[in-house]
Amino acid sequence: MSSDITASAAWQALHDDHRKVAPRHLRELFAEDPARGRELTLQVADLHIDYSKHRVTRETLRLLVDLARTAGVPEHRDQMFSGEHINTSEDRAVGHIALRLPVGDQLEIDGTDADAEVHDVLRRMGEFADSVRSGEWRGATGEGIRTVVNIGIGGSDLGPDMVYRALRHYADAEIEARFVSNVDPADLVAKLAGLDPATTLFIVASKTFSTLETLTNATAARRWLVAALGTDAVAKHFVAVSTNAERVAEFGIDTANMFGFWDWVGGRYSVDSAIGLSVMVTIGKERFGEFLSGMHAVDRHFATAPLAENGPVLLALLGVWYSNFFGAESRAVLPYSNDLARFPAYLQQLTMESNGKSVRADGTPVTSSTGEIFWGEPGTNGQHAFYQLLHQGTRLIPADFLGFAKSTDDLPTRDGTGSMHDILMSNLFAQTKVLAFGKTAEEIAAEGTDPTLVPHKVMPGNRPSTTILAPELTPSTVGQLIALYEHQVFVEGTIWGIDSFDQWGVELGKQQALALAPLLSSANEPASAGDSSTDALIEWYRANR
Ligand code: F6P
Repeated sequence: MSSDITASAAWQALHDDHRKVAPRHLRELFAEDPARGRELTLQVADLHIDYSKHRVTRETLRLLVDLARTAGVPEHRDQMFSGEHINTSEDRAVGHIALRLPVGDQLEIDGTDADAEVHDVLRRMGEFADSVRSGEWRGATGEGIRTVVNIGIGGSDLGPDMVYRALRHYADAEIEARFVSNVDPADLVAKLAGLDPATTLFIVASKTFSTLETLTNATAARRWLVAALGTDAVAKHFVAVSTNAERVAEFGIDTANMFGFWDWVGGRYSVDSAIGLSVMVTIGKERFGEFLSGMHAVDRHFATAPLAENGPVLLALLGVWYSNFFGAESRAVLPYSNDLARFPAYLQQLTMESNGKSVRADGTPVTSSTGEIFWGEPGTNGQHAFYQLLHQGTRLIPADFLGFAKSTDDLPTRDGTGSMHDILMSNLFAQTKVLAFGKTAEEIAAEGTDPTLVPHKVMPGNRPSTTILAPELTPSTVGQLIALYEHQVFVEGTIWGIDSFDQWGVELGKQQALALAPLLSSANEPASAGDSSTDALIEWYRANR
């Protein structure tokens, strides 16, 4: 799987095809193939995916599928689904798909029944969530829990925070969740504001239980609790989610109140493990189960659909097409759903920590760009901020538009006759249409526009987008969206030949921060960080702190 895909005939064929397709406009592609709007679509579980507004012909799609085959996507996928150690640099299996297996489906990882272990933890999580939600779990003063504060960072924060916000409608036990991640004390201080220690439960979420930010915040939170309720209160107000029981115990949390997971779950793939405990407490174990089922439905699709009809495969191939053949530098993710506001941030870790690599799994350097940069904001807010560049800028930025048929909160329009949700969705459809088809100078001139303004008003179009629609924002559809992107990242990583499941690139910064910390508070001898810029910055900081 680590051979140089860019040296393959399949890659060369795409280069040749790119020369033919790149000069063509989506207006022409639609004119010569009018059925594409209806036919270049896919159903993945409840997700309706329109990929017709991409700068591809049906021949391009065929060649892209050839590329997936040449890169060994089906074989690599099957290795993941059978528990093989495809995270080669860490010699680990990649088992997040086991976290959402229904009861009765089996998967052995490293000689153990992963499915049985997963369901055992889910059962314990469910019992715990039930007891917190029902008020049976009481804090040190005998009161029930009103707020859970998840302390974690990266995969131990972004997933649960994003899903909690997305599913606020399903949080039915009047328990609020807050998420603390940043070692900037402002985060913890702001999130503790207004909370009563007696009704607050901390979930310390850390796969390794060694992450500086999380342990620092957890220690500060414990001080806050102990100052109000005393040391004995810790047992009733702190639980942990981790793979590291020893460190959890060292921190002072009873391992009876620890929910485990496994080294075969990557941090950025862990929202469906016990890392999702804060979500389960707020929405309940049944809804959490629906979230897992949604993910599993997409797993089944990914594992079984032919490559040419496989949603994650096709969307990944389009990502490769723009990144490697058009030289696109990023992909915008634009949820037309305010509740999905954190989805782009969540995807940033998923894609960039997974595929931001310069060497292949075998250690040889890659020969193409890797790692799509994902960014975005909810529509319609983004329209009034950065869409100008999407429409008329010089860069090609493919975009994913996400929308829902039904709103969880519809309200009437100003005159009371329409639906605000219809306005939202008409904006989504308008944007994808304008991006694709634009407006020509002739069309603008024909409207009697001042000729000096015509060039300013030309809308070039030919800007590609995918539209992903789902019936409603539910636990299941949120799970489906996550799994859809997880598998895209997997397919892209497979094509580039990289290990999408390690993250060595984050280590050195952590070590350097630990080494520099004492210099910041030491007396006024010259800083000795090892380079003149860092020394000067630290000296400036000391002088001004
Ligand atoms: O810094 C990167 C990282 O290791 C992520 O991969 C991970 O999600 C995050 O830190 C948090 O790690 P942990 O859950 O072990 O605290």
